[in-house]
Amino acid sequence: MKKLLLTLLAAMCAAAGATGADRAPEIISVNTDRVSLILCVERDGRVHMRHFGGRIDDAAPLAAYSTHRRPDHGAGEEIYPAMGGRNFRLPALRATHADGDLNTELRYVSHETLPSADADVERTVVRLADPVRPLEVELLFTAYRRENVIATRSRITNRQQGPVTLHAFYSSALSLHGYGSYLLTQLRGGWADEAQIEHLPLGHGTHSISTRKLVKATHSENPAFMLSLDTDRFDEEHGEVIAGALAWSGNYRIDFSVDEYDVLTILAGANPDASEYVLDAGRTLTTPEMIYTFSDCGAGGASRNLHDWARRYGIRGGDRGHVPTLLNSWEGAYFDFDEATLRGMIDDAAAMGLEMFVLDDGWFGNKYPRNHDRAGLGDWEVNRAKLPGGIDRIASYAHRQGLKFGIWIEPEMVNPQSELAERHPEWVVRAEGREAPLIRHQWLLDLSNPEVQDFVFGVFDHTLALSKKIDYIKWDANRHAESVGSAYLPADRQSNFWVDYAEGLYRVMERIRAKYPDVLIQACSSGGGRVDYGALKYFDEVWTSDDTEALSRSRIQYGTSLFYPAAVMGAHVSASPNHQSGNVIPLKFRFDMASAGRLGMELQPRQMSDSERAFARRAIASYKEFRDLVEEGDLYRIGSPYDPSGTFGTLYVSKDKRRAVFLAYCIRYRGHTPVPQFRLRGLDDETRYTVRELNVDRPRCWFDGETLTGAYLRHEGINPPLQRLYDSAVYILEAE
Ligand code: GLA
Repeated sequence: MKKLLLTLLAAMCAAAGATGADRAPEIISVNTDRVSLILCVERDGRVHMRHFGGRIDDAAPLAAYSTHRRPDHGAGEEIYPAMGGRNFRLPALRATHADGDLNTELRYVSHETLPSADADVERTVVRLADPVRPLEVELLFTAYRRENVIATRSRITNRQQGPVTLHAFYSSALSLHGYGSYLLTQLRGGWADEAQIEHLPLGHGTHSISTRKLVKATHSENPAFMLSLDTDRFDEEHGEVIAGALAWSGNYRIDFSVDEYDVLTILAGANPDASEYVLDAGRTLTTPEMIYTFSDCGAGGASRNLHDWARRYGIRGGDRGHVPTLLNSWEGAYFDFDEATLRGMIDDAAAMGLEMFVLDDGWFGNKYPRNHDRAGLGDWEVNRAKLPGGIDRIASYAHRQGLKFGIWIEPEMVNPQSELAERHPEWVVRAEGREAPLIRHQWLLDLSNPEVQDFVFGVFDHTLALSKKIDYIKWDANRHAESVGSAYLPADRQSNFWVDYAEGLYRVMERIRAKYPDVLIQACSSGGGRVDYGALKYFDEVWTSDDTEALSRSRIQYGTSLFYPAAVMGAHVSASPNHQSGNVIPLKFRFDMASAGRLGMELQPRQMSDSERAFARRAIASYKEFRDLVEEGDLYRIGSPYDPSGTFGTLYVSKDKRRAVFLAYCIRYRGHTPVPQFRLRGLDDETRYTVRELNVDRPRCWFDGETLTGAYLRHEGINPPLQRLYDSAVYILEAE
């Protein structure tokens, strides 16, 4: 009650400000070691954003800053622009108040630094309110000092007598001014073609990265971007770059809007398109977190900041040590297996030195057996014909062979041909009276419904109860939302579905993680359809793409690496010819490519020759030697798979710069003339590194075994003999 009175009092003071009462401008600084976000509370109570970029210790002069614009000509760069008053920019908040008023004008109420258990993390809250219609907004800024990341989100509370409709409710707004140009880098793609890079200069007007698919939401775009400032070049090493990533596994939109003042406003958050959120009286909506970083040493620096932040704070299991190498059954067996097939795969996996076996789709359903993708989803009991000994017998077998055991589930989905669909037609996402369209012969379950949340939690829980020896779950989600409707939500709350679904998923994941903190969980969604920092709070890794072909992977892994660390990037060696592309690629190249991520295999080992298995054994052993660098090291992208040279490399350097691994590839044949020269950044100039090539029978180039200084490697570099298509090399560099 006291808090409410204080808030009201503060809002009244702010209202006084809005009507002309004066207050001295006040600066609010949110700082990391090298980045500052600076706000100014103006005389009239508006809160403007003044700076995001390199750190400014003394920001006091910004209290007197003037844009030199006519004061009656539109709004300034408000930190959370709302629709109403003078604001002409895209609104971060657009609401219809309980009484029908369409305007919202937010004024400063208070701000404070919140207590934090971690000395490297500082939390600041800025409270705003509409002085006329009681709607409150808290803006939360979390500064991660060492990683130079600032996360922002908003929290909107309805203090009115009736419901407020939120048409737009972004997580954050960021305004930048004074730059001559902005080069946007974004990911685009599709199924089996994720994370393709696109660079585009931002002109005036609005460009958006968005989805309305809800599930399988990161195939065609990803809620992450880089912005190179004052340049038209994407540069790994030089220049100022802002990177952002939204932690949300639902509909998202990031708008980049350049106005007539050349001010760029970035709005990021849940997609406001067709997803009005009706916020009942007294209720609060917390929006997803938007993660920002700034680098003055190019895109590489921005990626490393995000990776450091992710491993320390952003992802589940970021600090949990080594990830087991694995054999996944999908491309090796598909739906066609029995216990003997699986035992054979387990034996072969163990013999090659792999550490886990993952049983993919096809193990469940009896009335409607899951022998193809047209039946069985929803019926999570072991198929007796294929696995008469149950999951425990096969999981125990894996454990006896020294392997961990994992299993696939797709708990948010149902096939019409299933007992679940017969029992609970009302759980299916569909609009009353309309046909529910199928994708991959399946429907989506309505996770806005708490009963469905219980069911989905139960699928996980019951699966884990099938055997005490389940160490890993592959959680799939193979369709997106269409023709949306919920039998659970009331007619006047249908559009809350979009937000409620994603929050329902998180509620389930909270319960799962409370009960199963140590089970590894992979987020798969037809490959890389759920690659976002919202999911990664709960999932340990992502299945980067259903395209396992190593050439395509060069681009998919490169694109993913802009925002997400290799520690989460599932990468498997599969058969040749590849099942997706038909491409024939040597085993060494396939291993060298997959070894830049979380290494696994996904094929039937029985179909490999003896020499192939022997090579696999060696490459897996090599990987174990350097995987700590892939998981925890600093990434330096050396060239890119988009370079016309047709060669590029990936370097992971240990934090103490004593060890590194360099993986290099040729993806285009250009005759036998040009030999790549890779200059390796990121090492210590003074240190002498011994270079040793892995995965080859005998030394094949002049610098193998040589000791070279960091300065030599940076300025002169090495020239591996990668001239033919699919030549590849892996070098370990160790300080003397
Ligand atoms: C999706 C996944 C694959 C595999 C199949 C099984 O396509 O992305 O990896 O698990 O489902 O049906």
